[in-house]
Parts: sequence; C-alpha cells; structure tokens
Amino acid sequence: MTLQNILPWIRQARQEGWAVGAFNANTLEQAQAVVLAAQAEEAPAIIQVSHRALTYIGSGNEIQGLKYIAAIGKIAAESVAVPIALHLDHGTEREVLQAIALGFTSVMFDGDGYSLEENISITKRLCEAAHSVGVCMEAEVGEVPKPDGKAYDQAAITLTQPEEAVQFVNATGIDTLAVALGSVHGLKTKQISLDLECLAAIRSRVSIPLVLHGSSGVSDRDIKQGIALGLCKVNVATQLNQAFTGAIRDVLHGDDGLVDPRKYLAPGRDAQIEVVRERIRFFGVSGKAK
Ligand code: G3H
Ligand code: 13P
Ligand code: ZN
Repeated sequence: MTLQNILPWIRQARQEGWAVGAFNANTLEQAQAVVLAAQAEEAPAIIQVSHRALTYIGSGNEIQGLKYIAAIGKIAAESVAVPIALHLDHGTEREVLQAIALGFTSVMFDGDGYSLEENISITKRLCEAAHSVGVCMEAEVGEVPKPDGKAYDQAAITLTQPEEAVQFVNATGIDTLAVALGSVHGLKTKQISLDLECLAAIRSRVSIPLVLHGSSGVSDRDIKQGIALGLCKVNVATQLNQAFTGAIRDVLHGDDGLVDPRKYLAPGRDAQIEVVRERIRFFGVSGKAK
C-alpha cells in the first residue's frame, strides 16, 4: 500500500481499546522489520524516525536524513498489504515542515525547551501546514525525559497537567497528544509505573487520542492499563534496539572471521521482527488490518 495517514486507525483504537504501535527505525533493516512484522500480524503500524536518527542517516545533515527516510518509508510501505504510516518523531520546526513536504504521513513537533505559549504558537502553525495536506499532527505537553544514559531525577519529572492539556489541544488543533505520565526515554529495563490517575484525569477532559512515549521502560501491566484508559499510540524504540543489537552481538561473538554485513544484519532484522510482532499482539492490534 502507499503510505497512509494512520489517524483513522488511531481513532478506531480509541473506540475499541487498543493502541497502534509506533516503532523507531535507525537503519534500513529496522524499517523493514516494522513492515514485515505488521504484515505477519495483519496490523496497521507506524515507522517513526527521531531527530537523532535523521542526523545519523543523513551523516550529520538531518534534511538529507529526511530525504533518505521518505524514500525508504515509501518503498517499505508499498512492499506490504497492511496500512503503514511514516512518522517524524520528536522533530524540530524545520524538520516538521520538510517532512510534510517529503510525503511523511504523520509528524510530531517536540516543544521541549519552549515555554507553553511558544509551544502552542509553533504547534498551531505546524498543525495548519500538516492539515493542509492531510498529514496527522502530534505534539507534547509535559516532559518525557531523554537522559541518554545519564542520571535523572524521577521525582522532578513534569507530568502533563490536565488543564494545560485542554488549553494546548484547543489552541493548536492537533490530532494526537503525547502525555507525560512518568515514563522516561531509553530505559533498558521495565522499571517505571505510570501515573494512571493523571492519565484518567487527562482522558476525562481531552477527547483526542493520547500517545505514550518511552514505553520500553514502562511495566507491561501499566502499558495495558494505560491503553484501557485511553493511550492509543505507543512508541517503542529501545526494546527494538536491544533485540537488533543483541542478535548482531551474538553472531559476531560467535564468529571472529565474519566480515559480510548481511550475515549479521539479517539476524538483527529477524530478531527485531519478533519483538515488533510481540508488541503488536500485546497492544491488541493483530488482525485489525484484515
Ligand atoms: O524518543 C525517541 C526515541 O527514544 C529514539 O531515541 O533520540 O536515540 O533516536 P533517539
Ligand atoms: P523508548 O526508547 O523508551 O522505547 O522510547 C520510544 C519513544 O518514545 C520514541 O519517541
Ligand atoms: Zn519519544
């Protein structure tokens, strides 16, 4: 299929109590793993690419990275018969505009570092640009930290305040809202409990679909409850990297003489397919593209 705007599936997920998986890719093989897993599970899915992944793919030039990924995402989506969206994850203002122009079907502006007023004003502008060409728009209120291996203070995380969420959604016109419920990006073990009361309070005031970032570090019990309480898009990155890199590490450890990248990248891709399939089943999406 051609790349799809995934919003109808996210809205269906909200009605029926499941969540669309959004899976980060840094390499060609990781993007392929997402669509092959989605196909195997007959599920809609989202390939997403972060600001730092774009910088990596574009060898330091994130706009070049966007161009590569726009082409790869299009071909990956067309290689399967299930709906696939291509999403810009944690984009800057400039990246969001470029992604829209290059055919991404979904974009996120990351207003981290801006005041609420600045975040609203930039998001509103970008949302108008996205909607003018039928692209789905996500933005965030509150903080899901990106400690990148450094220490952080769990108690100091700014959760999404329900009233700010209402103000933000009403003022910007976004389609989906990323909420901060205590999760943290990049954790390698499932050690976080979400603030589900906060989620319920947001849900009672905000009707658009809600997005969970940093799911790799969140207990599966809380992800499940969070989905029941209205999380309709769940972002997964670190769990995929663990599977991909772990399989590659095993192959390389077992064979000092191996030099052909295909011989270790293929097992990495296969291992990631299994994790994406497991997450798709866990989020309740299997069979939804039938
Ligand atoms: O939210 C972003 C994802 O965790 C990917 O992180 O900045 O390492 O690509 P990254
Ligand atoms: P994790 O790396 O913790 O899975 O976070 C994914 C994410 O939120 C991408 O936006
Ligand atoms: Zn994120």
